[in-house]
Amino acid sequence: MKLLWQIDTAVEPSWLSLMQTAADCALLMEGVTRPCAVSIRLCGDEEIHEINREYRSVDRATDVLSFPTVNYPCGVTAGQADKLLRRELDDELDACMLGDLILSVPHVLAQAEEYGHSPEREAAYLIVHGLCHLMGYDHIEEDDKRRMRAMEEKILSAIGQTREGTASVSDETLLALAKKAMERSYSPYSGYAVGAALLCADGRIFQGCNIENASFGLTNCAERTAMFKAISEGAEEFTAIAIAASGSAPWPCGACRQVLNEFAPGIRVLVTWDGNTDEASLDQLLPHGFGPKSLQ
Ligand code: THU
Repeated sequence: MKLLWQIDTAVEPSWLSLMQTAADCALLMEGVTRPCAVSIRLCGDEEIHEINREYRSVDRATDVLSFPTVNYPCGVTAGQADKLLRRELDDELDACMLGDLILSVPHVLAQAEEYGHSPEREAAYLIVHGLCHLMGYDHIEEDDKRRMRAMEEKILSAIGQTREGTASVSDETLLALAKKAMERSYSPYSGYAVGAALLCADGRIFQGCNIENASFGLTNCAERTAMFKAISEGAEEFTAIAIAASGSAPWPCGACRQVLNEFAPGIRVLVTWDGNTDEASLDQLLPHGFGPKSLQ
């Protein structure tokens, strides 16, 4: 999912990373295969109050506001509305515009404290709630409300965010998130898109894509993008990395094996291509590797 950010109130970068993963997962769980886009504004209570008053005639601040572009028929959600989504295809974005979300940062902080969980988790919950609205869910009737809550739970628990805290993320979800990350690949020179999703021991997921450069040698692979994002956000322990591409099994290149070996010598490596999957451990992929221990 392409997220178009407008950040008026600064937040921790970890919020944004979790919101991106939650948004990708929302499309996966809903069964939307088309690339989609959503604009997300993070602001203060005054701004959200103003928008609520102007567009909904509700004279108060709130936590999240959603403005869908698609007018879903009663009972229909995005997964069953491919034709309607196609109408929202934005040529420049090369994605279907689902609508706008506005999130109040002070509400996220206050609600996180009230419920006793992290602000990232609250931000992810509110984004998922808003995205469900953009995908045609609502909570006016009891039945609809149950359906919407079930979808919210499905999305959040797939990325390990449950009411009880963090849960395990399945290989299937990790592989699907790697595949979603391919959409963000910048590979005009090779035309070979690669996506990765790195699962940390603390439950965080970092996605990455390959980023090429006109000076070819400066290209960064998807696996290293995910790993460098994770390291720069303070992650230290890693459980698995999923890698997605098309054509053939995207086993990591030598440079990526070496970088993975630096931080996660025993990591499980999962690959997916054209509907196939395979798995190996890094020990198998880099036997007799050179690493931090070699210098001790
Ligand atoms: N690539 C990766 O992203 N990961 C690998 O492990 C192998 C190669 C990318 C780099 C380049 O953008 C494209 O694939 C073709 O080499």
